[in-house]
Amino acid sequence: MTSNVSQSPRTDRLSEIDCDIDEFQRLVSRTTSLSDYRFASDVVKNVLIYDAPSLVDTVADGETRSLVQDELADALLNGPGIVVFKRAFTTDNALDETTAYFHQVIEQQHRSGVSSGDHFAKPGANDRIWSALQKLAVERPDLFARYYSNDILSLISEAWLGPMYQVTSAINVVNPGGNAQNPHRDYHLGFMSTDTAAQFRAHIHRLSPALTLQGAVAHCDMPIESGPTMYLPYSQKFEAGYIAFNLPEFRQYFAENYIQLPLEAGDAVFFNPALFHAAGHNTSSDIYRMANLLQVSSPFGRALDSVDRDAICTALYPTLLQLASDGRDRALGNVIAASAEGYAFPSNLDLDQPISGLAGETHAELVHRAVAALMDLPTFVEAQAALAARHRP
Ligand SMILES: [Fe+2]
Repeated sequence: MTSNVSQSPRTDRLSEIDCDIDEFQRLVSRTTSLSDYRFASDVVKNVLIYDAPSLVDTVADGETRSLVQDELADALLNGPGIVVFKRAFTTDNALDETTAYFHQVIEQQHRSGVSSGDHFAKPGANDRIWSALQKLAVERPDLFARYYSNDILSLISEAWLGPMYQVTSAINVVNPGGNAQNPHRDYHLGFMSTDTAAQFRAHIHRLSPALTLQGAVAHCDMPIESGPTMYLPYSQKFEAGYIAFNLPEFRQYFAENYIQLPLEAGDAVFFNPALFHAAGHNTSSDIYRMANLLQVSSPFGRALDSVDRDAICTALYPTLLQLASDGRDRALGNVIAASAEGYAFPSNLDLDQPISGLAGETHAELVHRAVAALMDLPTFVEAQAALAARHRP
């Protein structure tokens, strides 16, 4: 018995045949209209701009918060795929102090790089701080709490990913002369070879962008000459984009049509990870372009960066108690969401049987409960270790 599988009407796979540059051009040749986005304050180069301080006031009302989140999610999915929040991180969020701390870490890396000969000391190279979420929490929990009490981060993360999202962070400094990247899409399917990505059927290509949210907080002013990220609005809508972004005609189209936005320190950009983008060329002679690259993951996905969330919450715990005693409940919720594990699984179901409902207590729920009960630090650490043991195979 033979079957002609190549002509199966059920083929739901993507290949180069689906990468039609004319169709791509039609999709991205759209104009963003400010009147379609009632909470936005401006449209610049087709990108939606939100004024963070006034938006934070607007979303204090729960019903309006949902409406704003509807708009943001729609902007990322069906709209330009990118939003900018002006003045998202301020003095309240320890913007200058965290910038100084990150510079210190980079200097330490340079010093140890001289003796170990690692690439951080090379002139013109980029500097990175990997696992910056954990480093900041463990070394400077006071700064972490101020930084991640940020309302905009929780607003957009929840809008795109739902509750229980997981924050990770890496500092990227593109030094003067630092080169541009090739256009690409991001994690998950964007971090694979084209051949591997093509093994996932089309519905997974549609799913991948829903598993992460890409963000960047500017830690210095970024004029165009410093090479802020290049974007192609609406390109997230092209279904075969994970196959297409490496093709020469798509690279060329990107090179001729990308946009770049100058940013000021404290501005934050968030974009759909399927948006075609690339870091720009830093042509300045003296701007060390520092951004905190936030990758926020859905509880249903796996983060790129492994994070010791128990260590983070142990370091933060006294600061969390202080936030609670100051009555700063929203800040407390934002910091716990950015630090604790929000999801109940994977779990050892022999040990972690839920007493009510379908899931055992999550790490984030434990932290909330401990703070509300004014648990002391040793008791909290013990409870956290017991929860971790119930999650181990
Ligand atoms: Fe990227």
